[in-house]
Amino acid sequence: MAITARVGTIAQTAALPRTQVGVPQYLLAHYWWAYIHPNAVKFFERQWLVNLILWGNYRRLSEAALTELGESLPGRTLQVACVYGDLTSRLSRRAARGGGVVDVVDVLPIQLKNLDEKLPPAAPVRLLAMDATDLKLPEASYDRALIFFLLHEQPPRYREQTMSEVLRVVRPGGKVLIVDYAMPRWWHPLRYLWRPLLAALEPFALDLWRHDIAAWLPAAWGNRPHDVQSFFGGLYQKVSLTR
Ligand SMILES: C[S@@+](CC[C@H](N)C(=O)[O-])C[C@H]1O[C@@H](n2cnc3c(N)ncnc32)[C@H](O)[C@@H]1O
Repeated sequence: MAITARVGTIAQTAALPRTQVGVPQYLLAHYWWAYIHPNAVKFFERQWLVNLILWGNYRRLSEAALTELGESLPGRTLQVACVYGDLTSRLSRRAARGGGVVDVVDVLPIQLKNLDEKLPPAAPVRLLAMDATDLKLPEASYDRALIFFLLHEQPPRYREQTMSEVLRVVRPGGKVLIVDYAMPRWWHPLRYLWRPLLAALEPFALDLWRHDIAAWLPAAWGNRPHDVQSFFGGLYQKVSLTR
């Protein structure tokens, strides 16, 4: 059965607050309704719904990320955290085209199981139960990594640790792509309408409105440039770093 072949065991450390079963505190406190509760998975695993939450931008943002990564992805690709919808299927098709593999890490087995059920059996994907802040993966072992709408969910210390871990496991010259929220332009109606809702539902998301991604990069990264592309009046950004 694919699930046992694809899914590893959960890895834990004591560095950041997490529950006894290894789930980071912020997920349990603020995102149980989106990712943890079995009904949540059933409810949110609808592409049209995820697209609605992203104001119709799911396809555009995921396509922008995939286009930047490449039509064919040889070597090893890391996807940091599961995503509702068909993003991983599309990523894995590109990996298959290049003879490569995709590793998806997620801290919630229920999310990995859900992803496993969406993927064709032959997809070159490994599902790893692992915390993004503590990747049990060798240094410089990936050619590229994709972080799609994870950072806004994390409190700053987790976000920093995630970035540090992802930059550790991607090889020098490899690409790290981040797609997430950013501060909309002054004229954007959602700058005013979306702010209170985001603040209520996703308490750490507005950090990405206030700060450049560089704020959470390891000190050793210094002032190395990164490429930022804005979407939908600035509400979303795609950030590209070359390790
Ligand atoms: C990528 S994010 C948001 C995706 C986006 N809202 C969507 O589905 O369209 C959601 C995933 O991140 C995972 N996640 C959150 N914190 C994590 C962490 N520290 N390590 C690994 N996975 C994490 C959750 O379990 C969930 O499956």
